[in-house]
This record gives sequence, C-alpha cells and structure tokens, in this order.
Amino acid sequence: MLVLGIESSCDETGVALYDSEKGLIANQLHTQMAMHAEYGGVVPELASRDHIRRLVPLTHAALREAKVSYQQIDAIAYTQGPGLGGALLAGAAYTNALAFALNKPVLPVHHLEGHLLSPLLAKEQPEFPFVALLVSGGHTQFMAVRDFGDYELIGESVDDAAGEAFDKTGKLIGLPYPAGAILSQYAKLGHPDAFQFPRPMLHSHDLQMSFSGLKTAVLTAVEKTRATHHLSPQDTLPENIRNDICRCFQDAVVDVLVAKAKAALLQTGFRRLVVAGGVGANWKLREELSSLTVQTAPKRQPENIKTYFPPLDLCTDNGAMIAFAGAMRLVHGVQDAEKSGSFDVKPR
Ligand code: KG4
Ligand code: ZN
Repeated sequence: MLVLGIESSCDETGVALYDSEKGLIANQLHTQMAMHAEYGGVVPELASRDHIRRLVPLTHAALREAKVSYQQIDAIAYTQGPGLGGALLAGAAYTNALAFALNKPVLPVHHLEGHLLSPLLAKEQPEFPFVALLVSGGHTQFMAVRDFGDYELIGESVDDAAGEAFDKTGKLIGLPYPAGAILSQYAKLGHPDAFQFPRPMLHSHDLQMSFSGLKTAVLTAVEKTRATHHLSPQDTLPENIRNDICRCFQDAVVDVLVAKAKAALLQTGFRRLVVAGGVGANWKLREELSSLTVQTAPKRQPENIKTYFPPLDLCTDNGAMIAFAGAMRLVHGVQDAEKSGSFDVKPR
C-alpha cells in the first residue's frame, strides 16, 4: 500500500510517500519560516499562497525521490485540520484534484493524529500504550494513546501553547520569531535563580496547563530591568539579564510540563512517554524527561519511564506523519478511504 501524504496546515508544506512494506520512501518539505520572520509570526494569506506554489513541485520531487509514478499511489492522505483555514484549503483542494485526476481515494487526517503517531516512524519505536505529549507553537496536549485510532485527550493548555509562550516571551526581549530555539540557547548561559517566575496550575490536581500568565511575569521583569538601568523600550537588555530571563522562563515552562507528564503517567498507568512537536527540541525538557521516574505510593520504589523523542524533522510539521497516519488507518481498517469529490477542511 503506497500512500501520498500532504501537509499544509500552517507554515510548512510537506509531501511524503509511505509504503506499508518499505516504510517512508520520500519526505519533501518546504518551510516558510524565513518568509514570515519579518512579520513576527505566520501571515495566513502568505502561507496559503506559498502552499499553492509549492505543492506541485514538492510532489514531483517526492515521486522522483521514491522512484515511483503517480499511478503507483494507492491513496492520498491530507491534513484536514486543525490549522489555518486558507492553508488547509490549499492542501485539501490540491489533494482532491489530484485524487480525482488519478481516480484514487482520499484520506482526511487529523493533524494531531499525525503528530502523535510520528514517533512510530523513528528507528526506536514505542510500543502501545503510551502517553503522548504534543508541545508545539499551536498545541500543548497530553494524549492517552492505546492503539491506532484509539486516542484520548487527557489534558491541555487552557490558553497559550508552550511554543507560543516561548515565541511571545522572545518577542518581549527582542528575539526574532520563532524564538524558542534561540531563547533556549541563551537560557544555557543564564542563572536559574535570578528571577522567580510562576508555575501556573502546577497544583491544579488535573492535567490542564496555562502559559499565558508567564509572559506577563516576564514583561514585569523586563519593565523593572529597564527602569533600574534607565533603558528606553528601544534599548536592548543587558546580555546577562536577558540570559537570566531566558533561563528562568524556560525552567518555569519545563517544570510545569514535567510535573504534568508525571501526573499523566500516574493517571493512565502507562510507563512510556512520547514527546512530539517543536518544543520537544528544548534541551532542558529533554534532560528532565529522559530521566523521569514516577512513584505510585510514598513507600514504593520509583518506576523508570521510557521516554521517546522522535528525530527533529519528524517532531515539526511534515508530510511523512500524514502519509503514515493515512496508511495505518487503511492497514488497520480504522477508516475506509473516501472517493474524491466534495471535501471539507476543519480549521478548529
Ligand atoms: O511543531 P512546530 O515546529 O510547529 C508548530 O507549532 O506546529 O513547533 C514550533 C514551536 C515554536 O513555537 C518554536 O518557538 C518552538 O516550537 N521551539 C522551541 C525550541 N525549538 C522550537 N521551544 C523551546 N525550545 C526549543 N529548543
Ligand atoms: Zn503541527
């Protein structure tokens, strides 16, 4: 079974081919990051237009990479949502037109199903069941993953996603978008005790999280620093203070994610944790989650958790995870492919 996967939910155009026997045989990606950087965030209209420009050449490149022809494709999977409406429509319209021309069936895929199955594309694959932590610029969620097609949302951020918090905090201290990677590099140089930032909802006794208050705490710290150093809003912060803010902010986010990950593992009884999404690249989060233990009762021995981090190119948005999710659905009979025809996107 050969499935073509199309991803266009945000600022990455991904086209990939997954063969149920040979595995991933092509994975083409174009990121629009540089295009959006000067605006400080993703501009939806520009994103849609760029997807339209990239989809055909990327598909050609994927077919060349895998040395297969259009006719060998058995089905086409595409991201139906969630995401930006126009960007999703570009992928959906392209998929359905191609499927109609080739007379192949279509598989609408939920973007987050793609993310949470993406670790199964890595060399070292987790067995079911596992807890999935999806931490990206758009989502911060815990899922109980029991099998293909058997997913339960067990907790999520009630406001900003963790990656969004990194980006907004980065903006406050003058870092370019997206700020997560550079902010975490500066954090390495900062002092962990320099600022006391809150750990929102740490003790909420559930798996809900909140990150929007953190940026307010950072803003207060930035304003205080500016006042004591007689800096105008245009001046850059002294490097050591910038690094300290980065460190203390990052540690606050990581503390919450780690505590909630433990709670999710205890609640489900699962002992495997899978981390997907761009924030999964964060060194501190990786460090903490790699040596995670849980204790079911005060006098019990702590139990080791096996944590899986997919390679970075599979953590961020890509067509491979969509092709894979589509193929697994067909192979496991979770869903029949639809005849192309009328189609729909689900931005929310
Ligand atoms: O999964 P992703 O590539 O795209 C989506 O949001 O769908 O995630 C991007 C997010 C951005 O918010 C970015 O700032 C954040 O991941 N990010 C990081 C790091 N690298 C990327 N956040 C913290 N530490 C990092 N090293
Ligand atoms: Zn995503």
